[in-house]
Amino acid sequence: MERIFGRPIVTQEEMRTRIRELGKQIANDYAGKDLVLIGVLKGAYAFYADLARAIRIPMRVDFLIVTSYGGQSKTSGKVKVITELTEDIKGKDVLLVEDIVDSGRTLNRLMALLGRRAPRSLEICALLHKHIATELDYETKFIGFDAPHEFLVGYGLDHAENFRHLPYIASLQ
Ligand code: IMP
Ligand code: MG
Repeated sequence: MERIFGRPIVTQEEMRTRIRELGKQIANDYAGKDLVLIGVLKGAYAFYADLARAIRIPMRVDFLIVTSYGGQSKTSGKVKVITELTEDIKGKDVLLVEDIVDSGRTLNRLMALLGRRAPRSLEICALLHKHIATELDYETKFIGFDAPHEFLVGYGLDHAENFRHLPYIASLQ
């Protein structure tokens, strides 16, 4: 048995089951549409890869690499786009895939940025939601799991850039 780092919050088995459900739900909602699945890197990389393969309808993949600056582990709300999308999203049905919604500031910035490019629709899919996002101006259409108000790592989430590769979500508290 592999040693689990930290206190387990979402196991690999729970992750697999939930992502299968999300994939089916997204495929249903976007059947016949022009879906572009946009991953917010680095945090969403693991979730994105598994989710994309669970969505069994035609779609395109694209990515934004963003970094928050002006703060340490907590987001400052200042989001810098390091690497841009490769495709034009005008008239497309865009689903933005994020790792976790905390304050909601990161998503506020990204939704405003992408909204200006006139997609036909623009929605959010977040693996985790802390439900303390009083600042989020947008509805999170798809949520993987409700998250405790603790600092989480693994499955894309980092602490000082470490632990992103853990195949499960764990709490450092
Ligand atoms: P927000 O802008 O406050 O909603 O924060 C969102 C971003 O902060 C996420 O994309 C993560 O990069 C980071 N973040 C928020 N909570 C956690 C956590 O518990 N563990 C690791 N990163 C987190
Ligand atoms: Mg981060």
